[in-house]
Amino acid sequence: MEITSVSLKNYSSLRIGGEGAMVVVRTTAALVEVLMYAKKENKDVYFLGTGTNTYFGENLDELLFVKIAIKGVSFEEKDDEVFVTAYAGEVWDDLVRFSVEKGLWGIENLSFIPGIVGAAPVQNIGAYGVELKDVFVSLLAIDRTTLDMVEINKSACDFGYRDSFFKKEYGRYIIVSVTVKLSKKSSPKLTYKPLDSLIGKEITLQDIRDLVIQTRTAKLPDWHEHANAGSFFKNPIVTTSVVQELRDLYPEIPALEFEGGYKIPAAWLIEHVAQMKGVRRGDVGTWPTQPLVLVNYGDATANEVDSFAAEIKEKVHTKTGVLLEQEVNRVG
Ligand code: EPU
Repeated sequence: MEITSVSLKNYSSLRIGGEGAMVVVRTTAALVEVLMYAKKENKDVYFLGTGTNTYFGENLDELLFVKIAIKGVSFEEKDDEVFVTAYAGEVWDDLVRFSVEKGLWGIENLSFIPGIVGAAPVQNIGAYGVELKDVFVSLLAIDRTTLDMVEINKSACDFGYRDSFFKKEYGRYIIVSVTVKLSKKSSPKLTYKPLDSLIGKEITLQDIRDLVIQTRTAKLPDWHEHANAGSFFKNPIVTTSVVQELRDLYPEIPALEFEGGYKIPAAWLIEHVAQMKGVRRGDVGTWPTQPLVLVNYGDATANEVDSFAAEIKEKVHTKTGVLLEQEVNRVG
């Protein structure tokens, strides 16, 4: 086991963070060894993926950062269904590309989402009308309290919008592999814009993947060029009576029916209520074509990001009573 000192900035797509101790694990056995070591040394452990949903502060001495690099993908066919199991360290979009190339339907709408497979269930990644939970079967994880490998099925994961059991039990389970059920039968999900433009046409999996990638790259900044962590806030879900009140204040406010309530686009609130689309304070700003994305234009600190986010939240809250919940995690 080799522990090295690293700049966590290099493990955050927002490129923010101080120095910390890190170890890379490539096998399940190595992972267990690290967990035993951390228990003995009384260190708290933080698991790193690609860091596309995280930024770090400066107080990182108490933590041991563990980079999950366990790789491998296997397929099990049952008639038209194919169970695909991927280890946690696989890049999510490699799995999507691979599945599309093999003619397997189910995750094509989730093309180009940054991050690793092991992080996908934690926030139940979703885009263009599909969420991981729609294809999820089960996962294997190590329970840190016992160091045993456990299988966790879909209902136990308690998936919700950008939410799961793993957020409630934060840090207890380390996801080792994820199994999804894909289909050889064509089953396009084209309800969400702009995929609805493909309805009625003869299309392939690759057509959907291409349109998703084209849309994402047109709207969202590439974090290799402009440091960012995707949507910074969740889209708030409000009750019917709150929607009525909001419509009285803002007749043109968009609201989509969602799981018994209404989902209001946070991007709309940031643009039209907080009036902070494309606004920049120092090195932090909202992206001009998608203000739900906060960008680090240079040397922004974690505290600068927090105060900018607080300004947005406060403006939206004062004018509408709606509280924006942060989706990206700060550590340290
Ligand atoms: N909008 C504006 N101004 C803008 C941009 C958008 O008012 O400048 C409003 C429009 O009303 C638009 C609505 O926001 O119709 C929704 O915008 P968009 O379709 O771009 O999606 P989103 O709700 O902002 C969510 C996910 C994204 C995902 C897209 C596409 C969350 C928090 N975000 O964004 O996920 O790619 O839908 O499915 O649910 C991520 O999680 O990091 C992420 C990028």
